[in-house]
Amino acid sequence: MLASIPTLKTPRLCLREISKSDVNDIYAIFSDRNVTKFYDVSTMRKVKSAEKLIDWWSKRFQKKKAIRWGITMPAISNRIIGTCGFSELDFIAGVAEIGVDIARLHWHQGIMKEALSAVLNYGFTTLNLSRIKTWIMAENVYSIAGVKSLGFRNINETGSVFWQGKTHDIVYFVLDRNGYFTNHK
Ligand SMILES: CC(C)(COP(=O)(O)OP(=O)(O)OC[C@H]1O[C@@H](n2cnc3c(N)ncnc32)[C@H](O)[C@@H]1OP(=O)(O)O)[C@@H](O)C(=O)NCCC(=O)NCCS
Repeated sequence: MLASIPTLKTPRLCLREISKSDVNDIYAIFSDRNVTKFYDVSTMRKVKSAEKLIDWWSKRFQKKKAIRWGITMPAISNRIIGTCGFSELDFIAGVAEIGVDIARLHWHQGIMKEALSAVLNYGFTTLNLSRIKTWIMAENVYSIAGVKSLGFRNINETGSVFWQGKTHDIVYFVLDRNGYFTNHK
């Protein structure tokens, strides 16, 4: 299983492997302070940082510890407008953590929800996961709205993270296999 990153398709999107040739698109996403404000990837100032991130995703996939897809809109082009996937994967425990980022130009068009729907479906059906979780900085209201409408429930756990010179409260969410399949009957 998982010899290569599978391509996932949704009505508007294609989730595909990210390669070195996507470096400028990855840099465009992560050099934007709007994207990194409440997201734990440092704001990029050099294209080299995007190269390193692509490399890191690739190594994490080879070790079967993560899967990162590039999000494209085939009706427009094969260029990457966001990334998403499992930032942590534990096959023994059957647990994964999700993450997503969308280029600012494409916010509020339902792309996060459409892309993550495909990732959740892949995680619960193909990878047979039992639980998918995520943590979000409390100020990240769009991300919180998005995961709630995908069926994630807020768990009673507290925490904080020091990010860009400030301490931010963290909100934890989980989606269990049973909950997912109850909503997708
Ligand atoms: C969070 C993020 C991924 C959302 O992506 P998106 O494609 O714009 O999200 P969607 O359009 O699918 O919308 C998700 C929810 O946010 C709401 N939302 C998104 N943009 C909004 C806006 N400008 N105004 C009001 N609501 C907005 C949507 O209405 C939706 O909520 P609903 O289901 O209750 O209607 C995007 O803002 C982003 O990349 N942020 C920076 C990186 C980040 O924070 N990632 C998540 C870290 S956990």
